[in-house]
Amino acid sequence: MKKVEAIIRPSKLHDVQEELKNRDIPCLTVVPVKGSGLQKSYSEQYRGASQTLILQQRVMIICIISDENLEKCIEAIKMSAGTGTVGDGKIFVYDVQDAIRISTSVRGAEAIR
Ligand SMILES: Nc1ncnc2c1ncn2[C@@H]1O[C@H](COP(=O)(O)OP(=O)(O)OP(=O)(O)O)[C@@H](O)[C@H]1O
Ligand SMILES: [Mg+2]
Repeated sequence: MKKVEAIIRPSKLHDVQEELKNRDIPCLTVVPVKGSGLQKSYSEQYRGASQTLILQQRVMIICIISDENLEKCIEAIKMSAGTGTVGDGKIFVYDVQDAIRISTSVRGAEAIR
């Protein structure tokens, strides 16, 4: 199992959720986050004075999926979250040790089917 963590623009959340659902990846968790990427998000400089670090509003989508669904999940997020400009976000992938469906006590890959 894999955990896919995607940090995207809030305006793209609806499209990403729809695209994942269309590809049979309906389960997800969404968390509002703030962050900064490679552009470091400095506010405008004022007379060369010290710059203030600012944070961008973003949304984090978390999907726990089977190994075989990984590329499908990444593709769905890339095509629905992208605008082709900087600030589109990032996708991180982790290994997942286990999953437990509380209602049935089923464990492992069966629990996320
Ligand atoms: N290496 C990182 N570690 C943790 N969070 C990150 C990292 N890179 C990006 N993020 C998160 O993703 C958000 C969006 O980042 P962003 O899309 O601007 O990435 P970037 O690395 O600057 O790439 P780009 O040049 O495409 O903008 C950031 O606000 C931050 O929350
Ligand atoms: Mg950036």
